[in-house]
Amino acid sequence: MKIETILTPAELPALAQRDLRATACVVFDVLRATSTFVTALHHGAQAIIPVSEIAEAVALKNSKLKIKNSKSILLGGERNGVRISAEGIDFDLGNSPREYRPEKVRGKIIVSTTTNGTRALRACVNAQTVLAASFLNLTATAEFLRRENFTSVLLVCAGTGENTALEDVLAAGALCELLVERDSVEPTLKSREIRARGTLAPPHKIDSSDSAQIALLVWLEAKSDLAGAVSSSANARRLLAIPELREDVAFCLQQDICPLVARMGADGKIGCG
Ligand code: MLT
Repeated sequence: MKIETILTPAELPALAQRDLRATACVVFDVLRATSTFVTALHHGAQAIIPVSEIAEAVALKNSKLKIKNSKSILLGGERNGVRISAEGIDFDLGNSPREYRPEKVRGKIIVSTTTNGTRALRACVNAQTVLAASFLNLTATAEFLRRENFTSVLLVCAGTGENTALEDVLAAGALCELLVERDSVEPTLKSREIRARGTLAPPHKIDSSDSAQIALLVWLEAKSDLAGAVSSSANARRLLAIPELREDVAFCLQQDICPLVARMGADGKIGCG
C-alpha cells in the first residue's frame, strides 16, 4: 500500500489531472465537515450530498427531478463557521456535529456545502473510492482500508481557507500510524519506538511518501496532548472564540465514537459503506 498525503488545499486542483482510478482518497476536515458527516450517519441520516456552492445546494434541494422525496432533504453547512442564510433560504442545519442529533437527521438526506470540506470531497470524485474520515471513525476507516487492500491511499487534508489545518494533518498522521503499525513486519512496534527512530517503521507492505511521514511524525509528537495541540490551530481558535461553537472542538477530537465507514458513491452521496 502506497500512502501519500495532501497537506494543503492548494494541492487540490491538481487532482483533476491525476489518474485516481486505483486510489482510495480519505478526506479529513476534522473541524468540522467530515466529523459532522460521520456524526450524521451515525445518528441515522440516510446520506450526505457534499456540494461546493450554496446555489448548488439550494438547486439540488429544489430539484424534484433529481431527488423525488424532497421533504426528506435538509440543507446543511456553513460560511464563516455559521449556518447559511442565503438566496432567501435559511439552511436547516449549520456545521456543528452536535446539531446533527438523531431526532433531526434520522432518515434524512443532507445536502451540505462548507468552506473547505465539501470542496475537498468533490475534488476527489475521480478516485476509485472516496471516504470521509475524522477522529470519530478513524479505526473503522483504517480497518476498511486494510481489508480492501488498496494499492494507493491518498490522505486529503481539507485545510482552513487556503491553508494547511493542523488538526487535519494530525488525523491523517493518526491514520498512518494505524496502517503502519498493523502492516509492519514488527507488529508489536509501538509509537514510542517509531519515534525514537525518528522515522517510520521499515515499510514493507507500506510505502509512505514524505508527506505521509510528515503527518505521522507530527501526530506522534502531538498525540499525548491532542486537545492542547489542536487548541493552537487557527480553526480551533476561531471556534473556541464563538461561545455556541466552542464545544465542537472537544467533540470532534473524540476517537472512534462512530464506528462506521463514510463512503461517497459514484452518485456523489456519502453513506455508510
Ligand atoms: C469547512 O468545511 O471549511 C469547515 O468544516 C469549517 C467549519 O466547520 O467551520
